[in-house]
Amino acid sequence: MTVNFNQVSYIYQKGTPFEHLALKDIETTFQQGKYYAIIGQTGSGKSTLIQHFNGLLKPSTGKLEIDDLIISHKTKDKILKQVRKRIGVVFQFPESQLFEDSVEREILFGPKNFNMPVEEVKARAYQLLIDFGFNRDILQQSPFQMSGGQMRKIALTSILAMDPDIVILDEPTAGLDPKSRKQIMEMIKKLQVEQNKTIILVTHEMNDVAKYVDEVKIMKRGQLVEACSPRRLFSDLNYVNQMHLDVPDVVRLQRDIENKYQYEFNKIALTEDEFIEMYKEWQQDER
Ligand SMILES: Nc1ncnc2c1ncn2[C@@H]1O[C@H](COP(=O)(O)OP(=O)(O)O)[C@@H](O)[C@H]1O
Ligand SMILES: [Mg+2]
Repeated sequence: MTVNFNQVSYIYQKGTPFEHLALKDIETTFQQGKYYAIIGQTGSGKSTLIQHFNGLLKPSTGKLEIDDLIISHKTKDKILKQVRKRIGVVFQFPESQLFEDSVEREILFGPKNFNMPVEEVKARAYQLLIDFGFNRDILQQSPFQMSGGQMRKIALTSILAMDPDIVILDEPTAGLDPKSRKQIMEMIKKLQVEQNKTIILVTHEMNDVAKYVDEVKIMKRGQLVEACSPRRLFSDLNYVNQMHLDVPDVVRLQRDIENKYQYEFNKIALTEDEFIEMYKEWQQDER
């Protein structure tokens, strides 16, 4: 699926004294199979933007084109239901919305609503849960006796089990331990690489942006101010600072070494492995 934002603006509490323009003239495209990050300071409009993907919010003006489906302020809920089946949104702290007393019931709740084949969904969910490191009897357990990280993985699985073409995640690893964070990020990357899913990640974690993402979209005060590759973004640390973004650890390390030895590598490394290779080549050239 291709998603096109066509001059989308969104106004909260329109026509009241609290009216607030949260998105302004968003014009951008999301292509099938690519991994996107949406970044920007708190309040810049990231969550508002992603709520447009499954029609939780409809544009105040402008429209979204999702393949040949059009979402505007006039679009009926019946059409939105078709979209919700194919675009899965994992909101911030999704574990707070768990409510069923077994993992199986929790996971089948959404799919049943959409009349999806239960056995197929269950098999998919089970595989995801095993990949996440759960035991084989996980489906009968209650989510409420689990740790925060485990509950987050259950909530994530309940969306992924519906096999959406596009997976949207609003800070999916916020507040989790490092091990759960890594498991979740690796799982998401696997979905993109092995199943050609589109991933749209809202995040403040620039280490993750450097490591996993194809294209970064930067929001500022309701506007989309930049769309580029992570390599291009992190090559310009002045701009990164100006946008109040963090610098990935590996980029910081590279810059420290460059300063210390008065040497400039010909590109920015985005992962530790990549930097180690560049470093080794440099050391060999020096000999
Ligand atoms: N329900 C709402 N009513 C009024 N204003 C809102 C509402 N939700 C968010 N906003 C405002 O819209 C802007 C964008 O918010 P949001 O999309 O949540 O930003 P982000 O996810 O980037 O932190 C902020 O200024 C926020 O205060
Ligand atoms: Mg937000």
